[in-house]
Amino acid sequence: MKNIVLFILSIPVVLFACKKDIDNNENTDVEFDDTPYVLEHSYFPAPNIAEDNQLTIQGVKLGRMLFYDKALSNDNSLSCAGCHAQGDAFSDTAQFSTGVEGLQGGRQAMAIFNMAWHGEGFFWDGRAPLLRNQSILPIQDPLEMNESLDDVIAKLGASERYRDQFKRAFGSETIDPLKISLALEQFMNSIVSVDSKYDQYLLGQETLTESEERGRQIFFTEFDPSGTLVGGECFHCHAGVNFANNEFMNNGLDGDGAQEDVGLFDVTEDPADMAKFKVPSLRNIAVSPPYMHDGRFETLEEVVAHYNSGVQPSATVDELMQYNLEPGLGLTPENIADLVAFMHTLTDQTFLSNPEYDNPF
Ligand code: HEC
Ligand code: HEC
Repeated sequence: MKNIVLFILSIPVVLFACKKDIDNNENTDVEFDDTPYVLEHSYFPAPNIAEDNQLTIQGVKLGRMLFYDKALSNDNSLSCAGCHAQGDAFSDTAQFSTGVEGLQGGRQAMAIFNMAWHGEGFFWDGRAPLLRNQSILPIQDPLEMNESLDDVIAKLGASERYRDQFKRAFGSETIDPLKISLALEQFMNSIVSVDSKYDQYLLGQETLTESEERGRQIFFTEFDPSGTLVGGECFHCHAGVNFANNEFMNNGLDGDGAQEDVGLFDVTEDPADMAKFKVPSLRNIAVSPPYMHDGRFETLEEVVAHYNSGVQPSATVDELMQYNLEPGLGLTPENIADLVAFMHTLTDQTFLSNPEYDNPF
C-alpha cells in the first residue's frame, strides 16, 4: 500500500522532470551565486588568479564536477582524474598515460596543485599560456579523451544538474567551451598543497630528522669547488614556495642529437629552446613517480644519480648544470639518501586526502 501511494505521488514529479528535459526549460528557482571561494593558503604569498575568473563556490563546484566526469571523453570511460589522481598528487604513476583509444602519448602526466602559484605556461613545453587554454585541450586530444567540444556540450546540456550548475556559476544555463574552461581553471586553482612536514618545520611546528636536515642543506647549498661544503645546487631552479622557478630549462637528460622530445622548441622554434622543459614543482614528489617529462626515472635515487654525474652536455644544457657534468657533484651514497629523505618531507597528507578535492559524484 505504502509503495502504491509513493508511486502515485511520484508520477507528477517524473512527468515534470521529463517535460523539462524535452523543453529545456530553465529552472527559474536556480539563481546565479557569486559567493567567493576562500582559498586557504597558509603562509604562501597572494595567489595569481586572473581578474576575470575569480574563484566562486559555485564555479569551483562546477569545475570539480567536470574534472571527475567521464562524459568529457569520447566513450564516457575517462575523466581528467583518470590520469590525474588525487592520491598521486593529481598525477599518473604510469610512465605514459593511456587515453580512451588505448593510445599512449610520449609524456608523463603532470601533477596538479598550487596552479595559482605557477607562472604562465602550462604543459611540459608551455604550449598553453593560461590554465584555461590548457584545460580543454585534453578533451580534444586524440591521445587523451578524443572527444569534440560539441559532443561534450550536448552531453552536459542533457543533464538538468549541469544546466542548473552552469547557471549558478555563470548566470545562464547556456554551456559553451569558454565556461567549461573557466570552471576547470577555477577548480584547479582551488587545489592547494601547503601542509607538508617541511611547511610545518618552517612554521616551527615540526623538527627534521638529522638525515632530512642534512638533505635540506645539500638542496639549498651551491656546489663548492673547494670541496668544503656538500652542495647540490637544486634550489636555483626548484625555487620559491613551490620549488619551481616558472621557467623552461634543459637539465641535461640527453646530449645533442639524442633529444627525441624537443620540448619548448616545438612551441617557439627558437634553437635556444631546444629540449627545454617546464621546471616542475618538487612538492609531493615522493608520491608522483616516475620522473621527468618522459618518466624515465622510477625512483628519486635515480634522479639524484642523474644530477650527481649523469648530466649530458649539449648546446642548450643550463649553465647551472656546469658542476653536474663529468666528474659531477661527488655526492656520497649517504648524501644521496639524505637528499632523498629531504624530498620526502615535501609530501603533504592533508592535500592528498583533502575531501574538497575528491570525486563529487
Ligand atoms: C590520458 C591521460 C590524461 C587525461 C585524461 C588528462 N590529462 Fe592532463 N596531462 C596529461 C599529460 C600526459 C600531461 C603532460 C602533457 C604535455 O606536457 O604534453 C598533462 C598535463 C596537464 C596539465 C599541465 C600542468 C602543468 O603544470 O603545466 C594540466 C593543468 C592538466 N593536464 C589538466 C587536465 C585536465 C583539466 C583534464 C581533463 C579535461 C586532463 N588534464 C586530462 C595526461 C592526461
Ligand atoms: C638548471 C635547473 C635545475 C637544477 C639545478 C635542478 N633541476 Fe631538477 N629539474 C629541472 C627541470 C627542467 C626538470 C624537468 C626536466 C624534464 O623533464 O625534461 C627537473 C626535474 C626534476 C625532478 C623530476 C620532477 C618530476 O615531476 O618528474 C626531480 C625529482 C628533480 N628535478 C630534483 C632535483 C634535485 C634533487 C636537484 C639538485 C640535485 C635538481 N633537481 C636540480 C631543472 C633543474
